[in-house]
Amino acid sequence: MLPLDVVIMAAGKGTRMKSKTPKVLHTLGGRALLGHVMQAAVSLTARKIVLITGHEAELVQKGAAQMFEQEFKVSAPDTERSAPPILEFALQMPQLGTGHAIQQALPHLSDDGLTLVLSGDVPLTQVKTLQGLIASSLQTIKQGSDTEFDQKVDKAALTLLTLNTPNPFGYGRVLRDTKQQDKVLGIVEEKDATPDQKCITEVYTGVLVAPTVHLRSWVNSLDNKNAQGEYYLTDVVKKAVEAGIPIKTLSIHDAIEVMGVNSPAQLAELERALQLFTAKSLMEQGVRIKDPSRIDVRGELLCSEDVQLDVNSVFLGRVSLGRGVHIGPNCVISNAVIEDGALIEAYSHIEGGSVQSPVIVGANARVGPFARLRPGAVLGAEVHIGNFVEIKNSTLADGAKANHLAYVGDAQLGERVNFGAGAITANYDGANKHKTVIEHDVHVGSNSVLVAPVTIGAGGTVGAGSTITKSTEANALSITRAKQLSVQNWIRPVKSSGK
Ligand code: UD1
Ligand code: MG
Repeated sequence: MLPLDVVIMAAGKGTRMKSKTPKVLHTLGGRALLGHVMQAAVSLTARKIVLITGHEAELVQKGAAQMFEQEFKVSAPDTERSAPPILEFALQMPQLGTGHAIQQALPHLSDDGLTLVLSGDVPLTQVKTLQGLIASSLQTIKQGSDTEFDQKVDKAALTLLTLNTPNPFGYGRVLRDTKQQDKVLGIVEEKDATPDQKCITEVYTGVLVAPTVHLRSWVNSLDNKNAQGEYYLTDVVKKAVEAGIPIKTLSIHDAIEVMGVNSPAQLAELERALQLFTAKSLMEQGVRIKDPSRIDVRGELLCSEDVQLDVNSVFLGRVSLGRGVHIGPNCVISNAVIEDGALIEAYSHIEGGSVQSPVIVGANARVGPFARLRPGAVLGAEVHIGNFVEIKNSTLADGAKANHLAYVGDAQLGERVNFGAGAITANYDGANKHKTVIEHDVHVGSNSVLVAPVTIGAGGTVGAGSTITKSTEANALSITRAKQLSVQNWIRPVKSSGK
């Protein structure tokens, strides 16, 4: 196992977000920026994550600890590693630069490993890229068994992730030996660069990996004699040159991978980039997406064969779609399992309680348009839920139908039950919720109220407009409305004339 520790810098202020929420806790694709970066560290099977906080440190640490507990500890069994990394915090007060930030992390790092430096506001660096960076750093010591390999980590190179960009403004420029182009000499920050150096288009992305033992001595000897009076992490490059430690670079092609979030506009730009990336990978799996620029996956969307997605739907939490599922336009679906052949029509809202307790839509069911499935809704095969029907905490067995304008709450509907237009379960007495049981093959007439707790016996019929307060026998017809009275030749009142 590679002895890798990941340091995530997140002490900066994020002024341009103009938000009370710390920048790294703003969400991208439904997950905090910091969550994406921590996920990368988890996927790399790092042994430790050291998070450097400063501005709003308490909130950032709390957010990080919560995500760690909820997302990474739970998902750890899926990864090859048995235990997730350890999460530790380092406080940087005040913030005197990126080099100063790493100084605060040093007490948490041990010298037998490699340290990878990431930023909490750069969320889309791909794990593959980081693996490439680490592999490149280790190439210098490739031979030998795993244990020998570990012992030689100090021989690994300082490796910088770089980008060639036509617009290098603001970035640190990579300085190379003019005679020996593969030889890196240093990084110069925008504010310290000469006009000639400003023309360099190869920039440092903010990501580097180095043997910890060297990083420690370099970072401890930094000074702040520069245009900004800051301790620059980037000055470690010239220290490595002085020490004769090999320096390598890995050039990245997709600028999105190293783009940081500083403003709402940049956050939105990365959101679209991430969504497009997700849409493309779904399409590669065979999912047919009407317009890849009009889909939002804020979580995990798992699709079987022949899934079709119309425009403008939002998927949250974990949603899984079975074979041949169609999702109509403008649906919002969170934490749901939609089984094979089901059809979710336009403007439907499906909201599972959590990843662990999703809404279930059975095979070949039809939901919507304008249907609402709330937490605890479990629909069997071939169930039909029509427009303006709300289902909450209820089970509908195979073939049950509620096609128009109905509320089904805390209920259990048997097979082939027909729940008529405008019928409702009155499940709440003002203090407690009660259960309604509707057995197989019951027909509930339109505009009926079933006052829970109540059971409608199998095969029974409830006459339209009835208010049922007592349980009924199997196969019975139950009606509670008044008998119809017709007055012949009835003359309607007329408006009185005059005053
Ligand atoms: C840094 C690099 C620059 C590189 C650029 C890429 C330095 C000196 N410069 O510049 O070469 O091209 O990133 O985006 O490293 N942070 C702290 N504590 C601090 C200062 C910063 O935790 O005292 C954190 C920030 O919250 C942020 C990250 O470090 O997550 C980078 O800081 P930032 O101020 O954006 O560095 P740049 O000036 O952009
Ligand atoms: Mg920056």
